[in-house]
Amino acid sequence: MAFQPTFVKDRPEKLPAPQQLTLENIERDCWEYLLQGSLKGKDGFHTFALGTYSGQEVEMRTLVLRKVEKSERLIFTHTDARSPKVYQLESGHTAGLLFYDPNRKIQIRIKARPSIHKDDFIAGMLWSETRLSARKSYLSIKSPGHILGQGEDGLPEHLRGRDPDLEESQAGLQNFLVLGFEVLQMDWLYLHSQGHRRAVFQYNEAGYDALWVNP
Ligand SMILES: Cc1cc2nc3c(=O)[nH]c(=O)nc-3n(C[C@H](O)[C@H](O)[C@H](O)COP(=O)(O)O)c2cc1C
Repeated sequence: MAFQPTFVKDRPEKLPAPQQLTLENIERDCWEYLLQGSLKGKDGFHTFALGTYSGQEVEMRTLVLRKVEKSERLIFTHTDARSPKVYQLESGHTAGLLFYDPNRKIQIRIKARPSIHKDDFIAGMLWSETRLSARKSYLSIKSPGHILGQGEDGLPEHLRGRDPDLEESQAGLQNFLVLGFEVLQMDWLYLHSQGHRRAVFQYNEAGYDALWVNP
């Protein structure tokens, strides 16, 4: 049977019992929510805000959660290799990942160590799982953020209004890049009318240290 999160299924009226709302259950459920977010397009954790430090200011943008490897504490997303976020993530700073699901009323804030996957095994594996419609965005002529003379999608003329076929889509691989995030810290916040709850999980080689904190 598929794993069911322990304490928040769908908007419980009552705060879950203390024996359910343990740090151990919360940590395990957070990873289950992230996994569900990577698998289901309509899940509240399917997208997240990624915060990077550009050297002068913080930059934020929305990304799709593509893959979760709980055993390695890794989260993956796809992006265009030419996009500014890539060199911001290469700077050595940690990244911030922010999830909020209004149905579960849970926010998860993650501090993570980024890794860049271009033309490697991980990039090849995730590219093979992408749909033709998703590959289309990697076929744009200019890099993301490039100034255009008018509002347009930046795609070559022959792809306007349609998806590429499999052969056409292969050209997108040169712009395709996978961002990996090793989770270093997870901050869980649960909003509830009977009292919010918040806990922080700090990962280390042995597992994690967990603390309840004031919401
Ligand atoms: C709902 C939504 C999902 C998005 N998913 C992605 C994504 O998975 N990968 C990506 O590179 N950009 C995605 N974007 C676009 C980014 O938010 C951003 O505009 C783009 O990647 C350029 O970011 P940068 O200039 O900070 O590098 C998404 C935007 C929205 C609104």
